[in-house]
Amino acid sequence: MGEPLILAANLSVDFPVRGALGKKKKVHAVSDVSLTIEKGKTFGLVGESGCGKTTLANLLLGLVKPDAGSILFDGKEITDISQKQLKIVRRDMQMIFQDPLSSLNPRFNIFRIISEPLFIRGGYTRKQMEARVLELLELVGLPASSLHRYPSDFSGGQRQRIGIARALALNPKFLVCDEPVSALDVSVHAQILNLLMDLQKELSITYLFISHNLAVVRDICQSVAVMYLGKVVETGNAQTIFDHPVHPYTQSLLSAVLDVDADNKRERIILQGDIPSPIDLPTGCRFHTRCPNARPECAIHSPELREIESHHRAACY
Ligand SMILES: Nc1ncnc2c1ncn2[C@@H]1O[C@H](COP(=O)(O)OP(=O)(O)O)[C@@H](O)[C@H]1O
Ligand SMILES: [Mg+2]
Repeated sequence: MGEPLILAANLSVDFPVRGALGKKKKVHAVSDVSLTIEKGKTFGLVGESGCGKTTLANLLLGLVKPDAGSILFDGKEITDISQKQLKIVRRDMQMIFQDPLSSLNPRFNIFRIISEPLFIRGGYTRKQMEARVLELLELVGLPASSLHRYPSDFSGGQRQRIGIARALALNPKFLVCDEPVSALDVSVHAQILNLLMDLQKELSITYLFISHNLAVVRDICQSVAVMYLGKVVETGNAQTIFDHPVHPYTQSLLSAVLDVDADNKRERIILQGDIPSPIDLPTGCRFHTRCPNARPECAIHSPELREIESHHRAACY
């Protein structure tokens, strides 16, 4: 294991919601999640929509306060620090979003969008900001002439490049890429992913890469965590997990993507039923209602993550 940038332990958060008849309920968005993200590496977070990936990222970025657990960012506990201290730590953390169009203000030109983090931080002259924005445009492969244009002048892939340039403005150590290509045309996926990988090499940034697409995660991540209904069900070295997943949920996710491989030896596993509500969680293992291998005890006890082999843990009996 290399040096960790993020050490998260036992993170949990519930969101209060109003159910039918105004009854108070809780969405169990993230439950008892621990993970270590190594410096300069890409950590993949996968799972179906609604399983808590974005909430977990928001916890790590200090944007959502956990109900329980701790987060060490570069050796510093950030769950109990003041807003003022958090603001300073957050300069080292940035995020790029799924839909670049809705995350870029259509009324601002590219100079204003990319320089915004510098402007907020303060202390830069207009000339310094312009020089930095030009540098960033070059870094993400956009022409200098983009400076005075508007988001609507660009394609989806180019807009994502603008989002990446803005995220890099303050030289972050940690970048969360939340489904960065899912909203883009398939033809530009590889370009954007290659750009992210090149930038990582050049700037040694640590990535948390969120995706529901396991094939993408397999290509670019060194470590991975698979989430189901707020919990990590399998985690460890990405290659190891993709070569021999042990959790039935990971196996079903993988069988769906590998289906297209010509030499696929695994049988496709189709899960029965819908994902249960994170408000009314199943008893025992959260996956047992859809698990093809469920045994009676799975409905009673919730399995802990246990070591399968070095750098590979799974929560299944
Ligand atoms: N602010 C919030 N208030 C109430 N429920 C929320 C809030 N944010 C997320 N949730 C719920 O928490 C669960 C996890 O959401 P999210 O982290 O966005 O999942 P993912 O990113 O994996 O799709 C979902 O059921 C979602 O509806
Ligand atoms: Mg999400």
